[in-house]
Amino acid sequence: MRKIVCLTLALLVILGGCAKTPETETQVQPGSVVVGFSQLGAESSWRMANTASMESAAKNYGFALMMENANQKQELQIRSIRSFIASRVDVIVFSPIVETNWDNVLREAKQAGIPVILMDRMIETTDDSLFTAYVGADFYAEGRRAGEYLVRKADALGADHLNIVEISGTIDSTPMRDRQRGFMDVIGGDPRFTVIESISGDFLRSKGEECMTDLLARFGADGIDVLYSHNDSMTLGALDVMEKAGVRPGRDILVISVDGEAEAVRALKDGRINCIVQCTPALGGSVMALVQGLVNNRSIPRVSHPVEAVFSDFDDLTDPSVEGF
Ligand code: AHR
Repeated sequence: MRKIVCLTLALLVILGGCAKTPETETQVQPGSVVVGFSQLGAESSWRMANTASMESAAKNYGFALMMENANQKQELQIRSIRSFIASRVDVIVFSPIVETNWDNVLREAKQAGIPVILMDRMIETTDDSLFTAYVGADFYAEGRRAGEYLVRKADALGADHLNIVEISGTIDSTPMRDRQRGFMDVIGGDPRFTVIESISGDFLRSKGEECMTDLLARFGADGIDVLYSHNDSMTLGALDVMEKAGVRPGRDILVISVDGEAEAVRALKDGRINCIVQCTPALGGSVMALVQGLVNNRSIPRVSHPVEAVFSDFDDLTDPSVEGF
């Protein structure tokens, strides 16, 4: 019986020229489903890995991916979405660089009857019907995890007061807003902690360097106890600057980072970073599963968050599960 089913499926694939999709009940002609994807930029290793994840998942599902990269500019993302609408794509996926000012273009997509999936970042809107689903991290929970690590570390060190500097991500982006809010909600009421400065490094390694240079010049290494940086790219830039200035990151200044890229995980294992709150870029599979659901007229979940971990100097860092992307 099983043999017959397999043979029948194989014949269907050969005769129909159909793509092999992870969901066997529907076979799509390769390339017949078109996904318009506006990626926000190429600012970090996270973003590169995220783009690769979207490309390979679309390929696995047999979807044609019409991808445009907005190079960190909202106006280019809006232009791309308009071009996807004009091309009558089946589904639009985009990662909004900031949360505000999407309603007009999303109303145009809605009027054209094209569903929109938000990938990675959220938008601020009063009309929830302007998007169908969101797939991405719970950034607020990530911020809380960073704060919880710091509380535990301060307890372990018996620290009575710690001065914190924050290098945040792109102003008004979801990860910037929520990683800050989550962190502050955990440490804010604790008199042992003072955030002495918060500046934006736009998720870029080069700006992480600039921010750390500025922070060291203003506060001196002795005036800073903790760096909380919203992504690994900026953290790695900050580590370079600290080390050039003779400061030992991880020892003289505690370093808390977010993402989990391979170079940062190596730095964690070397003791140059104390904690990495994981944020996975591998969202492509979940996004394309939702596209498949929409194609099949199935109802799909409104919000999907990946499961994420925390790696820190409290863990056994020789464990093979502690690895980067
Ligand atoms: O939106 C996710 C964030 O964007 C990642 O943490 C960061 O590395 C990226 O640029």
